Amino acid sequence: MNQTYITLNNGTKIPQFGMGVYMVPAGEKTKKACLDALKMGYRHIDTAHAYQNERSVGEAVRESGIPREEIWVTSKLWPSEYGEGKTMDGIDKMLKRLNLEYVDLVLLHQQVGDYMGAWRDCEKAVEQGKVRAIGLSNFESGRLEEVCETAVVKPAVLQVECHPYFQQNELKKRLAPYGTVIEAWYPIGHGDAELIGELVFTELAQKYGKSNVQIILRWHIQEGTVIFPKSTNPQHIRENFDIFDFELTEEEMKRIRAVDKNVRFFTVPLEQQEIQFASWAPED
Ligand SMILES: NC(=O)c1ccc[n+]([C@@H]2O[C@H](COP(=O)([O-])OP(=O)(O)OC[C@H]3O[C@@H](n4cnc5c(N)ncnc54)[C@H](OP(=O)(O)O)[C@@H]3O)[C@@H](O)[C@H]2O)c1
Repeated sequence: MNQTYITLNNGTKIPQFGMGVYMVPAGEKTKKACLDALKMGYRHIDTAHAYQNERSVGEAVRESGIPREEIWVTSKLWPSEYGEGKTMDGIDKMLKRLNLEYVDLVLLHQQVGDYMGAWRDCEKAVEQGKVRAIGLSNFESGRLEEVCETAVVKPAVLQVECHPYFQQNELKKRLAPYGTVIEAWYPIGHGDAELIGELVFTELAQKYGKSNVQIILRWHIQEGTVIFPKSTNPQHIRENFDIFDFELTEEEMKRIRAVDKNVRFFTVPLEQQEIQFASWAPED
C-alpha cells in the first residue's frame, strides 16, 4: 500500500504523512533527520520560522536529490510578521531562508496580531506563485470564522493539537463549510507514555504486528487528518512511516474514538496568547 495524499480545497495534493521538526536544533540534527526521512520515502516536512531550522530543512530538500515538486514543504509565519505589506516581506525572507523558489504551504502560526492583514498578503503570495496553499494554525476562537468568512482564498488546512485524547470533533464540524482539512500537532501526544500505552493500542498492535505508535498514526490517517510526527531517531522515523500496509476496521476506529477525553496537553488562554506571542520574535 502506498502513502496517501489528500486533495485540498484549492486542488493541490498534500502527502497525508510527513515529518515535523519542532524543537529539533538547526544544523546537522535537523538536516540529518530530514534526509533520513526523505531517503525512507517521506515527502512532506513541517517547519516554522519560530523553529529556527528552516535553513537546514531547505538544505536537506535540495541535497536529497529528489525532484522539488515531489516534496511538500510547510512553514509558518510568526505574529511579528503579520500585516499587509509586512507579511509579503516575511514570505520573501522565508523563501530566502529555505533557499527554495516556492513554499507548498504557509500558515499563520498563531491567532493574534494583524492576522487579517497577514491573510491578505498570503492570498497575494499565492497569486504570485510564491506559495501553493495557505492555511492557519491554532485559530480555534471566533477568529477562525472571521478569517474564513472574509477570505477570498479559504484556508486549505488548520493545524491544531489533535490526538486520541483530544480528537477535535467540534472543530471538524466548524471547518466543514470551508473544506478545510485538519493537520494534527502532537499526533502522538508529544510522546506521552500514558496515551501511547493505552490498552486499546497495545491490543491492536499485537493483532497487526505493529507498535502502539503505529496504531495511533494509522488511526489519524483513516480519520482523514494530515500528520507529521517528529523524530530524530532513525528507527522511529522508519517505524512511523510503516503504516500503509494495514487497515483498522470500523469497529476498531470506534474503540479508538472512545478514548477521547477532550483534554489538551497544551493550552494558553487567548488573552495570554496576545501577550506571550507578541512579546517574542524569531530571528531572521
Ligand atoms: N502549529 C503548532 O503550534 C505546532 C505545535 C506543536 C507541534 N507542531 C508540529 O507538529 C509536529 C509534531 O508534534 P511534536 O513533535 O510536538 O509531537 P509528536 O510528534 O506527537 O511527538 C514527538 C515525540 O515522540 C517521540 N517519538 C516519535 N516517534 C516515536 C515512536 N515511534 N516511538 C516512540 N516515541 C516516538 C519523539 O522522540 P524521538 O525524536 O526520540 O523519536 C518525540 O519525543 C512538530 O514537530 C511540528 O512540526 C506544530
